[in-house]
Amino acid sequence: MATVLALVASKGGVGKTTLAANLAAALARQGRPVLALDLDPQNALRLHLAPQPLPTNGLADVVLGRIGWRQSMMRGRGGVVLLPFGQLDDEQLVAFQQSLAAQPDWLALAIEGWALPADAVVVVDTPPGPSVYLQQVLRVASLALMPLLADAASFATRELVERMVDKYARARAGFGGLLYLVNQVAPERRLARDVLQRLRDELGPRLIGELHQDQAVSEAMAHMLPVAQYAPHSQAAHDIDEAVRRLLPHLDATSPGHWPAQA
Ligand SMILES: Nc1ncnc2c1ncn2[C@@H]1O[C@H](COP(=O)(O)OP(=O)(O)O)[C@@H](O)[C@H]1O
Ligand SMILES: [Mg+2]
Repeated sequence: MATVLALVASKGGVGKTTLAANLAAALARQGRPVLALDLDPQNALRLHLAPQPLPTNGLADVVLGRIGWRQSMMRGRGGVVLLPFGQLDDEQLVAFQQSLAAQPDWLALAIEGWALPADAVVVVDTPPGPSVYLQQVLRVASLALMPLLADAASFATRELVERMVDKYARARAGFGGLLYLVNQVAPERRLARDVLQRLRDELGPRLIGELHQDQAVSEAMAHMLPVAQYAPHSQAAHDIDEAVRRLLPHLDATSPGHWPAQA
C-alpha cells in the first residue's frame, strides 16, 4: 500500500489546496510516483494541477457509476497523476456523504484496489473542518499535515481537527503522526512574529516548514502551475523544497516496508 499524506485543517484559506498541489509536484520532482487526490467538493486541486482544457470529471463520476477509476485519473502538471473531485449537485453530494458515512473504509479500499507502487505517495486535499471526507482520509493516512496561519484564529481552532486525528488515526498502525506547516509567514508583522514564535515553541519538531507569504504563490495558481515551475527562484519555491526535505524522512518512516507489522 502506498503512503498517504493528508492535508488537513480546521479552517479554510490556510493553504491546504496550495500545499497539496505544490508538495505533490515537489515529491514528483524527487522521483516519487505521486497521485494528487482531491477529496474536497470544492474541486479546486485541478486549478493548480490539471492539464488544459480543465477537466470536469473526477471521482464524482466514478461514484455515479459513469466511469471507472482509471478513467478518472489524468496526467497532471508537475509530473503528478491527478484525480479531481469532479462535480456533484447538492442532492448527489448529500447522497455521496451518506454513502461515505455508511462505508468507513471506502477510500482505504479504493487506494488498496489501485495497487500503486510501494514508493508512491497519495497526496490528499480535504475540505476545512470535521467532515466525512476527513474521517475517510484519516482512516487511511500515513501522515497528516496541517497548515496554520500565524494568527490567533488558526492557533485556537486547530484542536477541532486534532481531535479527529486522535480519534481516527492516532492509534492505527502505520500512522506516522500529525505535522504542521506555518503558511503566509510575513516577518514584518509583529503580532504574526509573536504567534510564529509561540507555534515554534509549542510544536517543536512537528513543525516541518514555514512558507512565506509570496505573490508567486497566487500568480502560479493563476497560471495553473506549481510554484516551482512558475517561479523556481522565488522564496515560496525555496520554502516548499525545504518543507519537502523535512517531510521525506517522515514519509519514508511510514512507508510500508517500515511498518511494525512487517518488521
Ligand atoms: N504562501 C502564500 N503566499 C501567498 N498566497 C498564498 C500562500 N498560500 C496560500 N495563498 C493563497 O491563499 C488562498 C487560500 O489558499 P488555499 O490553498 O486555497 O487554502 P485552503 O485550501 O486551505 O482553503 C489562495 O488564494 C492562495 O493562492
Ligand atoms: Mg482548499
